[in-house]
Amino acid sequence: MKKVLIAYASKSGTVKACAERLARHLEGHEVVLCDLEQSMPSDISEYDFVAVGSPIRMSKLHKRVASFIDKFDPALAKARVGYFICCGFTDSAEEYMTKNLPAELRERAITCACFGGELNARAQRGWFDKYIMRAMISTVLDDGAHDGEMRTANLPSVDPESISRFAGAIKESFGKRK
Ligand SMILES: Cc1cc2nc3c(=O)[nH]c(=O)nc-3n(C[C@H](O)[C@H](O)[C@H](O)COP(=O)(O)O)c2cc1C
Repeated sequence: MKKVLIAYASKSGTVKACAERLARHLEGHEVVLCDLEQSMPSDISEYDFVAVGSPIRMSKLHKRVASFIDKFDPALAKARVGYFICCGFTDSAEEYMTKNLPAELRERAITCACFGGELNARAQRGWFDKYIMRAMISTVLDDGAHDGEMRTANLPSVDPESISRFAGAIKESFGKRK
């Protein structure tokens, strides 16, 4: 049995749901889910794997996730680590990863993935977030075909397969030396 930390932050619930789904894939291991909006770990050295998850907002990682990465930067480069993001414009996921994660951390990571994302105006907490979200939804819908069904099909969603692959990479890494 290995010890896994899933450190994440989530503004409107997508990353939280993905983190919980990832934890379910790791049944049989000791998994600690840490919501970084509630608490910041003081040490990560006790974990065999650290998964770090963030939503993308205004092209950036959630502030608490960025602080976590800053705080543990040297330790993360040496540990078994995987990074995942959720975003509305999934075609830009690669670019978000490159811009927001230091190259050394990306190169040393076991895996980096986008789990998809959601665009949901009702799930947003403040007026500003609702406003931005409505603008994003219109952009996505306007870019799509102007047929009723096709328009909603154009909205992003969470990709369960990518979570399952991420969990597979975590389990596979336990057999290798880091
Ligand atoms: C204020 C705001 C800004 C956002 N900015 C981006 C962005 O720059 N790029 C993107 O792809 N998605 C963006 N999104 C969409 C979120 O990444 C997406 O809704 C994600 O599923 C949210 O995850 P969460 O529910 O865990 O916070 C933004 C959403 C909000 C509310």
